[in-house]
Amino acid sequence: MTKTVTTTPYTDQKPGTSGLRKKVPVFQQQNYAENFIQSIFDSLEGFAGKTLVIGGDGRFYNREVIQIAIKMAAANGFGRVLVGRGGILSTPAASHVIRKYEAFGGIVLSASHNPGGPTEDFGIKYNIGNGGPAPEKVTDAIYARTKTIETYKIADVADVNLDAEGEQDVAGMTVQVINPVSDYAELMESLFDFPAIRAHLASGFRIVFDAMSAVTGPYAKEILENRLGAAKGSVLNFVPLPDFGGHHPDPNLVHARALYEEMMGDDAPDFGAASDGDGDRNLIIGKGIFVTPSDSLAMLAANATLAPGYAKGLAGIARSMPTSGAADRVAEKLGIGIYETPTGWKFFGNLLDAGLATICGEESAGTGSSHVREKDGLWAVLLWLNILAVRKESVVDIAREHWTTYGRNYYSRHDYEEVDSAAANGLMETLRGQLATLPGRKLGDLVIETADDFSYHDPVDQSVSNHQGIRILFEGGSRVVFRLSGTGTSGATLRVYIERFEPDAAKHDIDTQVALADLIEAANTLAGIKERTGRAEPTVIT
Ligand code: G1P
Ligand code: ZN
Repeated sequence: MTKTVTTTPYTDQKPGTSGLRKKVPVFQQQNYAENFIQSIFDSLEGFAGKTLVIGGDGRFYNREVIQIAIKMAAANGFGRVLVGRGGILSTPAASHVIRKYEAFGGIVLSASHNPGGPTEDFGIKYNIGNGGPAPEKVTDAIYARTKTIETYKIADVADVNLDAEGEQDVAGMTVQVINPVSDYAELMESLFDFPAIRAHLASGFRIVFDAMSAVTGPYAKEILENRLGAAKGSVLNFVPLPDFGGHHPDPNLVHARALYEEMMGDDAPDFGAASDGDGDRNLIIGKGIFVTPSDSLAMLAANATLAPGYAKGLAGIARSMPTSGAADRVAEKLGIGIYETPTGWKFFGNLLDAGLATICGEESAGTGSSHVREKDGLWAVLLWLNILAVRKESVVDIAREHWTTYGRNYYSRHDYEEVDSAAANGLMETLRGQLATLPGRKLGDLVIETADDFSYHDPVDQSVSNHQGIRILFEGGSRVVFRLSGTGTSGATLRVYIERFEPDAAKHDIDTQVALADLIEAANTLAGIKERTGRAEPTVIT
């Protein structure tokens, strides 16, 4: 019932920041998905008879690859597959299911916030037994294998019925179709004060959650409306669609514009939020105020003990290097550790496993904790709701008080998407070449203090990751960071991260782009962005 199929390698299967992401037509090439999945299995040891979790964000091509992955898992000797009904599991839910059922690992099908559809993006990611993305030594091994693969194994059987919960047999392996929401909802209920949130909502506190026609719809409906009693209709766009309704399922101020406009209106609800294609990102907007992800991380950490799951306090906070330093100030006040990692959730795994960090975050709308090993959009929303329910203050009041206590880190990211790869690489190389000569250089009133190419030394396994972004640090704590995206699927995306620290509460009301104007100009001068990319403006400003 299983067969071995001869194949030839593809040369472009190097996993990026978060697994292998390509356009759907690339994945539809003969044996393309099969080669990558077999390369994953060939890079692992000791999974015979063990459990594999499989799920995805429901995007176009999800069901097809799930069928392939199940049949290949059977042929390669797994004992059991847990798969979400309809092939659905949000990324944090997949992480939880892997942990809860002590699975060997999991295959998560998603291209996160990238658009979906027949000519849009698809992705495959492998997560290890702790529920988190495979570390670099595993993804390097997978990539090496994709370059030499000659055969793959697959069960020659009919498709599995993904729509009926319960057990089925596939070539001697058990496939269990599980409810994709219930385990996750139970976990959330164990971390947060649901009765307090329910009471707060019942007292007239109004929320709106935009699921962006992506995977969090069913989770948000069940948790926010059914279990917490938010008014029916609080969850928008809750039916996951294969093409996300033609939108970018990216919860930022560009792609969740309608939500932003609503939250800035006179009759705005008290709290607005959104999540991305696979449910791991979050956007938080209070009535009249957008909370940057970097600030959200700091504010959640500062107030986390108000939630039962964190009442005993935090072990430490971890943030990716480009994320603002707002969380550092909270860690300092709490007297706990702060860790600065490269971009990508996989770098938090060791810190969480070792108990060094409890809460982690990235400026790219990712926040999460030790409850799973992925970032978690709804988790961030529920922690905010828990804090709001206990403090009974508005988001804007909580933010203002936070800035008065800790100072404000004005922060913005400017993305230049789909620029010519050679031009983008040239820009980075030129900056790298100048690093030694930058300290002391003046740009208007700004003086460069230090400049480097960020290297991370993992304190747990001692591994070293180089070239993780160019940092230009100015006197007084402002900085500009340059890096190239590792998740794009066409051309290169240049990300420029800009940050200014403002301790003076009288200056906390400035428009962010205005507050950062001199740094933005300095970034342009230093990197020659306009000349090199031919772009006068960023594609996306967040
Ligand atoms: C982007 C974000 C990064 C995040 C990743 C996966 O990666 O910047 O923080 O972990 O998506 O969601 P990038 O495209 O910058 O490599
Ligand atoms: Zn995502």
